[in-house]
Amino acid sequence: MSRERIIGGEPVDREEDLTQLSLRPKVLAEYIGQKELRGKLKVTLDAARQRGETAEHILFYGPPGLGKTTLAHIIANEMGSKLFATAGPALQRTGDLMGILTNLKEGDILFIDEIHRLSPVIEEFMYPAMEDFKVDFVVDKGAFAKVINVPLKRFTLIGATTRAGMLSSPLRDRFGLYYHIDFYPPEDLAQIIIRSAGLLETEIDQEAALRIAQCSRGTPRIANRLLRRVRDYAAVKADGVIGEEIAVRALDAEGVDALGLDNLDRKLLQVIIEYYKGGPVGIEALGATLNEEVDTLVDMVEPYLLKIGFIQRTRRGRMASPEAVKHLGIEPSADNQQSLF
Ligand code: ADE
Repeated sequence: MSRERIIGGEPVDREEDLTQLSLRPKVLAEYIGQKELRGKLKVTLDAARQRGETAEHILFYGPPGLGKTTLAHIIANEMGSKLFATAGPALQRTGDLMGILTNLKEGDILFIDEIHRLSPVIEEFMYPAMEDFKVDFVVDKGAFAKVINVPLKRFTLIGATTRAGMLSSPLRDRFGLYYHIDFYPPEDLAQIIIRSAGLLETEIDQEAALRIAQCSRGTPRIANRLLRRVRDYAAVKADGVIGEEIAVRALDAEGVDALGLDNLDRKLLQVIIEYYKGGPVGIEALGATLNEEVDTLVDMVEPYLLKIGFIQRTRRGRMASPEAVKHLGIEPSADNQQSLF
């Protein structure tokens, strides 16, 4: 379900992944938005280059689709390094990781996406690798078990996570640098859309770019996805040029509302407001009522609704705000917002 959301932050399929790759900025100078992060990262990379050293381990955290993987590739390009990419759930056995780590050359980058999903055994295996560039590998079993200490080349680990809170503190503490990537304001997304339209050889005006940006939930991946949908619509229904009117019609046809909320967002809000009388309601109960995985709600639906103030997370559960009630066009009443009064 979530993978098919047009406004979901996750890549939809391999083909889309490849298109996104070609739209991705390759160097820091091409990267739009996240000014503070870009500034800090530039200092870190310039300093490492000046000293001829590898960069410290870096952790990126923030909602999906905001550019964590893109930044990892940019760092590799800027440092002239090779990047090896994997993901927390893919690393099942220490042997797998051992193979990857021992193949890394000096200055290479190991990118681990969803690093909060590493198993505890793998995580512990990473500690000496990150700290002392060595691994303790156990060979044989029982009475014959031996620990061999294998030295590694100095590499940079880049971890990405949607949930910094789910990372154990020993792992978090082994990163020298951590950067939070926040949702992008519409002006930055409009610039990203204009840049992407240029790469896709599509004409678009400023107003249309801003319209699409406003529907992109602060997320470049969604902005680029919507741009492609609008571009198709403009090619079929008009002369291929994306003006404001075409953009509005295309977005409307996609069922994306003025704030970029889709059916799942609206359903979640509606359930809190009407079924749970405005909340508070626990996330597990919401997942069960909506027949959605809790992880999907927490990673992909809630963050933006929290950001725009449509829901609040309290100790007793999630609550919908009066703005959410208004946006959905539901008549406010003591019954659907009992806890807000
Ligand atoms: N494409 C996706 N994210 C981008 C960004 N931050 N800057 C430029 N192009 C992008």
